[in-house]
Amino acid sequence: MMCSLAAVAAVVYTDMRFVEPNWLGLGVHRVPLLPAGSERIRILQISDLHASDDVPLDFIEHAVELGLQQKPDVVCLTGDFITLRWDEWNAYSRILERLSKIAPTFGTTGNHDGGESLVSRGGYHRPTKVIEMLEKANVRVLMNASCNVALPHKNPFELVGFGDLWSNDFVPGELLSPRSEKIPRIVMSHNPDTKDDIERSDWDLMLSGHTHGGQLTLPWGSTPFAPVKDKRFVRGLHQWQNHWLHITKGIGSMRNMRLNCFPEISMVELVPMA
Ligand SMILES: [Fe+2]
Repeated sequence: MMCSLAAVAAVVYTDMRFVEPNWLGLGVHRVPLLPAGSERIRILQISDLHASDDVPLDFIEHAVELGLQQKPDVVCLTGDFITLRWDEWNAYSRILERLSKIAPTFGTTGNHDGGESLVSRGGYHRPTKVIEMLEKANVRVLMNASCNVALPHKNPFELVGFGDLWSNDFVPGELLSPRSEKIPRIVMSHNPDTKDDIERSDWDLMLSGHTHGGQLTLPWGSTPFAPVKDKRFVRGLHQWQNHWLHITKGIGSMRNMRLNCFPEISMVELVPMA
């Protein structure tokens, strides 16, 4: 009996540590936000890259290459580019620049990119280095800012990016005031718990990460370690109130462990309403 338990534990550990974290997939979701007859808009979302000793740049480049193969119209990078510290900024920038060369690429930061709470753990006080790296890669950083995205032969939409909640950089201000022009309004916000602060505001779809999909999913489906208050929304596409939420499982993970929760890049397609 003891031998079989030890064998099961060894198999589970091998899967968690050496198989799942390296088995990158593609999640595809469709959100009906466009007028009938419109061309779909394909948004590639990549999040929680977590460059570190556990997640080398080779793996991040593998994710970027998988993303490039999808031929996205727009790319959204939703935070946690590093785990604590990083040195190879130029190499990182060159990898992300591959995305901005093929499509308009936008980004916002996560709680691991810089913040007061990281300093005692060896992280950065502010996400300055990450932002510099993104700008060098021609990624437009939206930190409590918005812009209209107009693609050739596609309907325009508005993209709003927020700073991170745990880093005290989440400042909605007037960015989600009622729209005068009814084009889709897409929000990038690393932590999906931010939805509660903007529940009554005017927006359509939030793109988040942060949870790593729960990272460790127990056999009965619960995700007790997901770092969010609202554990109903830790991965995938959901309708909530009169909004849509998409939470990607992300690329990297903490301590390089995943269980029943493979890493992913996500393709979120805006499609016509029925
Ligand atoms: Fe993360």
